[in-house]
Amino acid sequence: MANQRDVIIACDFKSADETVKFLDRLTRIRSEVISCDDSRFGEGRPYVKIGMELFYAEGPEMIKLLKSRGHKVFLDLKLHDIPNTVKKTMQVLGGYGVDMVNVHAAGGVGMMKAAKEGLMLGAARFADKPKLIAVTQLTSTDEETLHDELLINRPMAEVVKQYALNAREAGLDGVVCSAFEAEEIHKTCGADFITVTPGIRFAEGSNDDQKRVMTPAQAKLAGSDYIVVGRPITAADKPFEAYARCKEEFL
Ligand code: C5P
Repeated sequence: MANQRDVIIACDFKSADETVKFLDRLTRIRSEVISCDDSRFGEGRPYVKIGMELFYAEGPEMIKLLKSRGHKVFLDLKLHDIPNTVKKTMQVLGGYGVDMVNVHAAGGVGMMKAAKEGLMLGAARFADKPKLIAVTQLTSTDEETLHDELLINRPMAEVVKQYALNAREAGLDGVVCSAFEAEEIHKTCGADFITVTPGIRFAEGSNDDQKRVMTPAQAKLAGSDYIVVGRPITAADKPFEAYARCKEEFL
């Protein structure tokens, strides 16, 4: 079966208020410009990602609020601790009904297996099981940091590949990676191993602080399963149009 694919909006806002205002604006404009059965947009609200800042500011209520409003939620907390702690924490997160959550692959296969066990225990009452993905290497880590600070004397591409294989061995669903790595990850770990790719920009837009970027259309060609798009949508003058354009190019 082909992987599900979607556009995930990175809601990097400071508070629940700001997030809800943005999402309300998006939905209001949507209802003004398209009919509700437009197949490109589906019936549901957009898939959203919330990260550490918003989660630590607002707590689990933030997730409950987004879920009650019909959003799918990718909770980007990047857990990394001893297996027992990660397992218990994942059990808590699974109970919130998150749709996707992640860990650092640097925690090792044992930690990732424990994460998966905990998540499945927590999500036992939900029919749709959450996806668990791994961060291979942060895009802020360059080859120099890898070698000189972390003392990992292998090329970055090899490290990313090995960490993705470790994630697959632990039973995870996929990895967060650059769209530039998606094809190689699929070759190494299989077509059903999902790639979730940030660093997406429109052809004519600003790159902000992202270094290696692809457009939604290029990410589609590269084989990304989910694109994570923040500022090109959240900071756009017309956010719904930007979101719709991502959907049109990517899906
Ligand atoms: O605004 P922008 O589209 O750059 O947002 C990208 C989102 O993806 C941010 O929430 C950022 O933290 C996240 N991310 C990333 N690169 C990674 C992992 C996550 O940009 N390697």
